[in-house]
Amino acid sequence: MVDSHLDTDAARRLEVVRLGHPTLRRVADAVPEQDFGSGRLVELGRDLVRTMFDEEGVGLAAPQVAEGLRLFAYWVPESDDQPAVEPTVLVNPEIRPVGEARVDGWEGCLSIPELRGIVPRFERLKVKAQTVEGEPVSFTADGFHARVIQHEYDHLDGIVFLDRMTSMESLAFEHEWQDFVLGNPTDGP
Ligand code: NI
Repeated sequence: MVDSHLDTDAARRLEVVRLGHPTLRRVADAVPEQDFGSGRLVELGRDLVRTMFDEEGVGLAAPQVAEGLRLFAYWVPESDDQPAVEPTVLVNPEIRPVGEARVDGWEGCLSIPELRGIVPRFERLKVKAQTVEGEPVSFTADGFHARVIQHEYDHLDGIVFLDRMTSMESLAFEHEWQDFVLGNPTDGP
């Protein structure tokens, strides 16, 4: 699902807004049909991908750069559990869980820096969306891929991962999370 328009050489690094910015709490607007393929939308997709990589995130939704539009960028690094998913931009996505199964997993968010918490998410999803050019895409996502999509999709509805935590007990600063959850002490502050 690599989109040829995701070449990030020309892309700009955008400012990521943090919790408290009102756009993060609004329901974003659908991208209008006439905007597909426009320079503005193609550039926004590219800029989201570049900014996501610069900030070392796995996903970034337009509301996180103060654009109240229904699109997000994400990627999935290769792991033992699943193959990599190349950087992808989904516009006007629709998601539907497949089955009832939910799994707990750790999440963080570029708009809520330094924090990690355990969030239950559906294990498997059907996803329908369009590319920035307006081409329809549909696929099934599992595991971490499904988690990333649910997290980013929530941003389009003004929801952040803290809202999805069933208990605040796991909430941890990244440094302490590294030390005590991963058991992998860091030298940082
Ligand atoms: Ni986020």
